[in-house]
Amino acid sequence: MKPRLALVVLSLVLSLLIGLTLRRGSGTAAGDGPRRPVIGLSMDTLEVERWQHDRDLFVARAHELGADVKVVSANGDDVRQVRDCEALVANNISALVIIPHDGAAMAKGVALAHEAHIPVLAYDRLILNCDLDLYLTFDNVKVGELQAGYLVDRLKGRKARIVRLLGSKTDNNAFLFKQGQDNILNPAIARGDIEIVHEDCCDGWRPENAKKVLNAAITKAGHNIDAVLCSADILAGGAIQVLLEEGLAGKVLVTGQDADLASCQRIVEGTQSMTIYKPLKTLASTAAELAVKMAKRQVIVAKEELDNGKVKVPSIFLKVQVVDKDTMDSTVIADGFHSRESIYKK
Ligand code: GAL
Repeated sequence: MKPRLALVVLSLVLSLLIGLTLRRGSGTAAGDGPRRPVIGLSMDTLEVERWQHDRDLFVARAHELGADVKVVSANGDDVRQVRDCEALVANNISALVIIPHDGAAMAKGVALAHEAHIPVLAYDRLILNCDLDLYLTFDNVKVGELQAGYLVDRLKGRKARIVRLLGSKTDNNAFLFKQGQDNILNPAIARGDIEIVHEDCCDGWRPENAKKVLNAAITKAGHNIDAVLCSADILAGGAIQVLLEEGLAGKVLVTGQDADLASCQRIVEGTQSMTIYKPLKTLASTAAELAVKMAKRQVIVAKEELDNGKVKVPSIFLKVQVVDKDTMDSTVIADGFHSRESIYKK
């Protein structure tokens, strides 16, 4: 993740210039002047609230920039997502944006686009082991550090017992969140301040799997739990259902991420402690701007890079913010992400 501005800019300039000559659909139809760029957006799922925001914001910004967007969602099915990419590529798009369900499986989507000389932007989640053109995301390690840091700060002075609900094994972000959490937890564990009583991955980021993992933790460790470190709001939702059934809701700290409306409501009600606000408008608008530039084969500057197992992918990392009861107004509400009325239900 070391900034290597000059090199990355140079490599991007080169790759995009190469793209200009090699990849078709440069935004100009032969003979009849510039045509409206068409962007393909291949999504993992639209079942989770956050991704609906991402789609709406992306499409709105692309339209403002004079581009059309073809959106498809695979409902968490890898075979379907590869087919979606194939269909988009066959549909005369000039740039492809992918939110992969499985970061490894979608290398195939990148290959299909590149065969047709179409550049690919990975949106929020990295695509592994392929020559991906660009990656735009949040600082995901920082997300994990903020989640764990919130708990460590509030659990100071007691030997705290934590259950950890990790994300989906197929999502590279889940590993980055864990890495950030480990950065903070490991020294606290070594000091004897924190004990992880149980932890497991929640496949597909599904709330029902979060419930299973927390139920297993309670069977093992009983009610003697101080916090549930959930990597995302969608998992916190499942965990809090279990805590309600067990009479523990509001007594146990619960983390999250995404500032989903339901989580913001739980935070002001007191059953969830915090979430991470990732300004989706910035992510989606930036992605749309980058995708349009890619479609027009314009030069893009990325200051960071991330190894995806095959290449160092030019990358852009956006900043995140902690949200709890005290900062709800100055973050999510001030940004217009959710209205005050919808969060406080009045
Ligand atoms: C991750 C994403 C999180 C969360 C999760 C579940 O990839 O970074 O913000 O939404 O997926 O959808």
